[in-house]
Amino acid sequence: MAYAAFRSIGAYVPEKILTNDDLSKMVDTSDEWITKRTGIKERHIAAENEFTSDLGVKAAQKALERSGIALEDIDLVVTATISPDYFCMPSTATIIANKLGIKGATAFDITAACTGFIYALSVAKAFIESGMKKNVLIVGAEKLSAITDYTDRGTCILFGDGAGAAVISATDNKEEAIIDVHTGADGEYADLLMTPNGGTGSAHDSLDAEAGTCFMQMKGNETFKVAVRTLTKDVKEILEDNNIKSEDIKHFIPHQANLRIIKAVGEALKMREDQVVITVEKYGNTSGASIPMAINDLYESGALEKGEIMLLDAFGGGLTWGSALVPFAPLK
Ligand code: UT7
Repeated sequence: MAYAAFRSIGAYVPEKILTNDDLSKMVDTSDEWITKRTGIKERHIAAENEFTSDLGVKAAQKALERSGIALEDIDLVVTATISPDYFCMPSTATIIANKLGIKGATAFDITAACTGFIYALSVAKAFIESGMKKNVLIVGAEKLSAITDYTDRGTCILFGDGAGAAVISATDNKEEAIIDVHTGADGEYADLLMTPNGGTGSAHDSLDAEAGTCFMQMKGNETFKVAVRTLTKDVKEILEDNNIKSEDIKHFIPHQANLRIIKAVGEALKMREDQVVITVEKYGNTSGASIPMAINDLYESGALEKGEIMLLDAFGGGLTWGSALVPFAPLK
């Protein structure tokens, strides 16, 4: 049987920085409030002519370079995004594949909001273990600034742009295999986080920027409580299922939504501070890109070593959730 191994990571953040002080000139907020309630100090914003696919391509180029796998051997490209280049078609994955020069590989997008990267990881694992594909590029890429309402202080302080990518490939060596991926969803809570326009379920017949209905809307406080509960439960289950103790996890990499959520979950799971990876202060919430961007930070800091187990945990619109136990298994 083939196993799926996590070979490499890459990320890209756009140049422009939007600070809390910048935001306090746009809406009724302050650096103090944002820092205290979210831990976020700044986020990056893509240029007008820089699309989600452009961010994804730059992250993917780094992941591919570091993977030791040839571009022509990539046979599946999966992109997790809620801010695609185009709403219906083509998928952002096909655009990314084309810009990278990947020809003929299967390519599609996943819509699972902040859990998107873990959903993509589960798809890569399943395709590889079934023998259908061998080398999968997964990309989490978001230009959330394009769907953020900069008159709504409840959401605009949170979100940023960026991308992360990973190469997952087949191996016979069980030691380096992705141990487990859990994913789930509950549409009963669909209205907690949504972009209400642009689809057939919408009361509006077109994307209407002026009415603000194509922007993200969130019931922040309710979402916060469900997030802490779900993230904690999710981790407990995956650790229990695999007979792993939380103290044996080298790197806990949760979705970067809010420092208070990360801390509450870390404490509930009795994680030590040195186990928890935190990047929310400099990137904000980048939805499907947040986990691979955090893994990349860890990698570039030199703190991610071959064989170390990463515990990933995410929660997002849908509602969706997911967790994964992933040994880092570079080829070079
Ligand atoms: O990534 C997917 C999942 N997303 C999340 O997990 C996000 C979850 N939610 C959150 O991170 C937090 O709920 C927020 C940061 C969005 C809000 O923090 P909160 O502690 O839940 O605040 P709240 O919504 O209960 O609002 C408390 C007060 C309100 O004022 P009143 O009614 O008490 O007078 C808000 O109007 O804070 C006010 N407020 C603000 N004040 C200054 C809300 N946003 C702001 C702001 N600046 N930006």
